[in-house]
Amino acid sequence: MAEGKGLVCVTGAGGFVASWLVKSLLERGYNVRGTVRDPDNEKKTSHLKALPGAKERLELVRADLLVDGSFDAAVSGCDGVFHTATPVVAIKEDPKAEMIDPAVNGTLNVLKSCAKTTSVKRIVMTSSSSAARFRTDYATNPLLDETSWSDLEFCTKFKMWYAVAKTTAEKAAWDFSEKNNLNLITILPTFIIGPVLPSELSSTSTDVLDLLTGHEKKFQLYGRMGYIHIDDVATVHILAYETPGASGRYICSEGERDNTEVGELLKVRYPNLNVATRFEKGGMPYYNFDVKKVKELGLTSFKSFDVMFDDAIESYRNLNLLPTP
Ligand SMILES: NC(=O)c1ccc[n+]([C@@H]2O[C@H](COP(=O)([O-])OP(=O)(O)OC[C@H]3O[C@@H](n4cnc5c(N)ncnc54)[C@H](OP(=O)(O)O)[C@@H]3O)[C@@H](O)[C@H]2O)c1
Repeated sequence: MAEGKGLVCVTGAGGFVASWLVKSLLERGYNVRGTVRDPDNEKKTSHLKALPGAKERLELVRADLLVDGSFDAAVSGCDGVFHTATPVVAIKEDPKAEMIDPAVNGTLNVLKSCAKTTSVKRIVMTSSSSAARFRTDYATNPLLDETSWSDLEFCTKFKMWYAVAKTTAEKAAWDFSEKNNLNLITILPTFIIGPVLPSELSSTSTDVLDLLTGHEKKFQLYGRMGYIHIDDVATVHILAYETPGASGRYICSEGERDNTEVGELLKVRYPNLNVATRFEKGGMPYYNFDVKKVKELGLTSFKSFDVMFDDAIESYRNLNLLPTP
């Protein structure tokens, strides 16, 4: 590999968020070792190989969250690890097998591999606002910050398996890191919107396309959520990695909105699209995120709600998934 800013590993490199992170790391001069489940799957890797700098500074290696020791070779010799891989899927039958176990055991697998090498100085893990926002006390606590954890009993009761997986995985990561003296930082983005690099849409990119094409169902379930541009998410990961004094968790959100508000804003901005607006009352109660900590880290302003959707829509149009105006 060519000389650069150092070697970092990105797990699940072909995913929606990780692909943009890989692009951002290459732009900043890093050598990147990305893990994918199948390096020969062109559908999941060709967009990575086409990134500027990839030919010289991107290596793709095989690793699976479910296989013990799978990440040993991937993280060996790396200065830092960005752990983003986790199943973000619609559950078919078994939430534990399909989502929770790969998230939790997979995270521990990655961290165990990091603990075996002396080269890894910091691990930045992509957690989620879902690990912080599902509570039962919004009435008295509507402003959530990094001290907030989702209530696992509440999430389990309402079958919010993604929130269970992300909360349990992040807690396990903190526990393991403290016991094994690893330098861990976690990033908690809200709903990530922006350009899509992979040729196959991820689960959340599909939900956004549904919203823009008149399907209310998924966003009805989502209720009130924070929104954040994918480029800001990548920037926060890299700031967290590069800033010596960074520590703990970082919530990352441009702002929180009810689904009714989201539908109306998008309908007005994109009159030519069939944006879903028929949301029923209910869903998440009122709450907001306090983003003081991430601002202090250096992300002083966020890309706006309009820009994140403009960028997402442009990329859907480039993929012929939405009509050109
Ligand atoms: N999208 C959002 O709005 C959002 C918001 C907050 C946090 N996050 C977090 O951001 C991260 C990436 O999410 P995303 O939206 O980019 O989803 P995504 O596109 O589905 O990416 C998930 C990645 O995880 C990999 N993965 C899944 N199961 C695996 C396994 N058993 N072994 C190895 N890799 C496995 C996938 O690999 P394959 O390509 O092989 O399937 C894929 O690369 C996740 O940690 C997610 O919780 C996302």
